[in-house]
Amino acid sequence: MWGGRFAQRPSDIMQAINASIDVDKRLWREDIRGSKAHAAMLAAQEIITEADNQKIQAGLDQIAAEIEAGTFIFDVGLEDIHLNIEARLTERVGEAGKRLHTGRSRNDQVATDFKLWIMGACDAAADSVRDLQKVLVKRASDHADWVMPGFTHLQTAQPVTLGHHLLAYVEMLERDMMRISGAGGAAGDGCPLGAAALAGTGFPINRHATASALGFLEPAANSLDAVASRDFALQALSALSISGVHLSRLAEEIVLWTSPQFAFARLSDAWSTGSSIMPQKRNPDAAELIRAKAARISANLAALTAIVQKLPLAYAKDLQDDKALSFEAFDAFDLCVRAMSGMMETIAFNRDALREAASKGYSTATDLADWLVRELAMPFREAHHVTGAVVKRAETLGAATLADLPLAEFQKIEPRITEAARALLTVEQSAASRDSYGGTAPVRVREQAALWAERLADDE
Ligand code: ARG
Repeated sequence: MWGGRFAQRPSDIMQAINASIDVDKRLWREDIRGSKAHAAMLAAQEIITEADNQKIQAGLDQIAAEIEAGTFIFDVGLEDIHLNIEARLTERVGEAGKRLHTGRSRNDQVATDFKLWIMGACDAAADSVRDLQKVLVKRASDHADWVMPGFTHLQTAQPVTLGHHLLAYVEMLERDMMRISGAGGAAGDGCPLGAAALAGTGFPINRHATASALGFLEPAANSLDAVASRDFALQALSALSISGVHLSRLAEEIVLWTSPQFAFARLSDAWSTGSSIMPQKRNPDAAELIRAKAARISANLAALTAIVQKLPLAYAKDLQDDKALSFEAFDAFDLCVRAMSGMMETIAFNRDALREAASKGYSTATDLADWLVRELAMPFREAHHVTGAVVKRAETLGAATLADLPLAEFQKIEPRITEAARALLTVEQSAASRDSYGGTAPVRVREQAALWAERLADDE
């Protein structure tokens, strides 16, 4: 394709480092779409004849059918998807095929194809995040009043409801979904096609026509920017990477919760793996691999950032490696979200273990302090001190929870504490009392779960 000025063919290693067809063959649909739009525009502008355009359109459709059928032969000697398709087109339609590349270059071609791919991939990723949200909302409303320990520093802090905990992830995933679809939208802003190699072209092309035929908002206004920039891919990988962080945190919780030490939950058989030596094991491999894959998605973002940041304008071949990193990140993300949906759909929670853990560590101490403030008008700092003494007493006497400590013991520390105060110190009462907006009380959780169910249904 470019051998005109060379006497020798490239060395095998040169070809191996240079060829990208094994990776970028995945862009074949976008490449054919882009070429069809370009050829139609060339004909409309009378840069090629309508007869040539017809041959090109039919030839590209046939190539699409060949690739779909698996009969197309990809040739590493032809470097990349662009040259593979163009060479085959010329084989099929002759002269007309050789006119397709008028007024464009592989530099604007690849940027266009890749943007189209990122747009579609972001849409699909956002949809799968939506599906996971639906699963979590369903599980949250089924467990709106199941009490579990809320942690800070992974130390028992205050009782919360399981529904509330699950809805926390629905909120994170909503922002993820917005970031991912925002990244797809940003890729669709400026169409690179027609920027040509870097400087534009002297042919009277109509870039507005190709931009709109391909679903872009407008043509990219600066040809150097159009061929040199990959921030659309950085933005998409950054959105995936942030969402991967959230998936990894939930995965980490699954790993903890399903360990016999916590015993908060059990993964279904379909989402557990066995050990070849220890017959009792039920391992959370999918959750662990979500943690690993999330790390790799962030690493791919870091790699692409490092590739782009040192490049003088405009195009350089370093940019070719943007695709492997992005395809891998999107593939990993897709697996992670779908595995998470599968696990969360069928994970079984253990109500007793959750409740028992919630009661440990004197988790309702703040409720006593709040009562002292509310009913006795005690300043909070003093209430904190009194409650600390009560906790110490419970510990000395070996009372497992504050609700187990006899009233007389409370009254030795603060005589005005009543039976009514003591009755508030169960984990259920504690969670139910936190009914401020955004709080963990079952009434608030049911409200939020209902809002989410409505919102996610509207979205269909
Ligand atoms: N395969 C190349 C890539 O992915 C296409 C652009 C090549 N342009 C060039 N001038 N060699 O970046």
